[in-house]
Amino acid sequence: MPPPDAAADWTIPQRWDAYTPQHHARWRFLYDRQLRLLSGRAVPEFLEGVRLLDMGEGVPDFARLSERLAKRTGWHVVAVPGLVPEDVFFHHLAHRRFPAGTFLRGPHELDYLEAPDVFHDVFGHVPLLTHPVFADYLQAYGQGGLRSIRFGALDKLARLYWYTVEFGLIATPEGLRIYGAGILSSAGESRYALESPIPRRLAFDLERVMRTPYRIDSFQDLYFVIASFDDLLERTLRTDFAPLYARLEALPDLSVTDLLPTDRIIEAGRTGAASGHPTCSPALLPN
Ligand SMILES: [Fe+2]
Repeated sequence: MPPPDAAADWTIPQRWDAYTPQHHARWRFLYDRQLRLLSGRAVPEFLEGVRLLDMGEGVPDFARLSERLAKRTGWHVVAVPGLVPEDVFFHHLAHRRFPAGTFLRGPHELDYLEAPDVFHDVFGHVPLLTHPVFADYLQAYGQGGLRSIRFGALDKLARLYWYTVEFGLIATPEGLRIYGAGILSSAGESRYALESPIPRRLAFDLERVMRTPYRIDSFQDLYFVIASFDDLLERTLRTDFAPLYARLEALPDLSVTDLLPTDRIIEAGRTGAASGHPTCSPALLPN
């Protein structure tokens, strides 16, 4: 059951007027800091989305933001009270609605968050939803989630979200770039994900990703690198998840230090020594 102040689909009013000048100043600080960091680190499609959405003045009004976003790809941003059940989460994605929290991190937690806030949800996630192929991927993920509920394998599906939508890297002709929102909204991890010699970076493999648990209490030990958004969408769409889940049931999970003969190593890293804090918890993730 949704909370008393929420609609049946768990959406709530954003109450944009309730944000104070301090909230908007804090948003601008975070926004400006990330944009400085992300030049040359974020995938160009994300930076183009930031430019198109024009979110630099303060905490965005979801209604006005959705108007601009919908013109591009038909997606909308809807406000939710933080944690939503997985079927609700999938249902929103399947209908091109991105559920976002409304609270903004406090002045003493600019670098460390227990749960995703509006900066993570909107700055981190929404710009790439202007990109038609990524927009289709996230909708396909939601549709796949709705179909997968009966298989009892949502922990495995959550890993796909984690290693792509939240912490994905992408290969470009200029080198590795960031497209995962958990990295894009974190000052520390924006540098660490690309430049630290600690984490391992492997080429994306759907089955491999689904066998790999993730950690939520520090920077990642392991990143998966996609070749392109087209490739990610294509691999997800052409996979028949029912037999995949059946196969995965018989296989053990992998630890971050495991390597398979089929793994394509992009950077070997020194896994197991990650430190720091994430800016995203799985509170809004389907697990
Ligand atoms: Fe997120």
